[in-house]
Amino acid sequence: MDQDQKKSAAAEAALAYVEVGDVVGVGTGTTVNHFIDFLGRAKGRIDGAVASSEASAERLSRLGIRLLDLNHLADVPLYVDGADEATSAGYLIKGGGGALTREKIVASASRKFVCVMDNSKLVKMLGAFPLPVEVIPMARSLVGRRLVAYGGLPEFREGFESDNGNVVLDARNLPLSNPHEMEKKINNIPGVVENGIFAERRADILLISGENGVECLET
Ligand code: A5P
Repeated sequence: MDQDQKKSAAAEAALAYVEVGDVVGVGTGTTVNHFIDFLGRAKGRIDGAVASSEASAERLSRLGIRLLDLNHLADVPLYVDGADEATSAGYLIKGGGGALTREKIVASASRKFVCVMDNSKLVKMLGAFPLPVEVIPMARSLVGRRLVAYGGLPEFREGFESDNGNVVLDARNLPLSNPHEMEKKINNIPGVVENGIFAERRADILLISGENGVECLET
C-alpha cells in the first residue's frame, strides 16, 4: 500500500463518524481531499460543511456540498482534518499547507476532532516537522527574532500568502516537550496570528492507516 492509498483508507474510515444531518468541519490537505471526495458521495446525509481553507471550500462546492459560515452556526459536531505530526495523545503539528489558523478555528468550534493520517505522521514527540507560524507581514522580523530567542530556527516561507493575507515562518528546533506552554508562548508574540501546535484543542480520535488497516486511537 503506498502513502496515498493509506491516506485514502484513513479518510474513508472517518466517514463512520459522520451522522445524518451533521454539519461537518473540513480540514485541508491531501488526506482531507480524499475525505472530501468520500463526503461528496454521502452528501445527501449531511446538512453542509464548514471549510478551513479556500482550497477545501472550492473542492467541497465542486462536489455540490453546501458551504456554511461558521458565524451562523451554534455547533459543529464533527471536524475532520489531517496533521503533519501527531502523538498518540492527540497533540499535533499542523500547517504544512499554511491553513493552520482557520483549521484551529474550526477545530476549536467542534465537539469531536477526528484526525486522519498515514502512519508516517505518528511520532513519540512533536518537533521534527518545522513548526508553521502565521504572522502579520510587518511583524515578520520581530517574530523571527523572538522564535530564535525561544531556541527556534525560523525560515520565511518564500512566495506563500495565507488565505488571511499573511506570511508563514517555519521554525525548526523549538523545544516542544510541553506543547501547551509553547503554543501559548508563541501566540503571545505581537504579530503572531496563530501557530501550528494543536495542544489546547488536540485531536479526540486519531485514525492511523498502516499496512494492516486503519487503527483508531481515542486520546
Ligand atoms: C494544512 O495546513 C495542514 O495542516 C494539513 O492538515 C497537514 O499539512 C496534513 O496535510 P496532508 O494530509 O497533505 O499530509
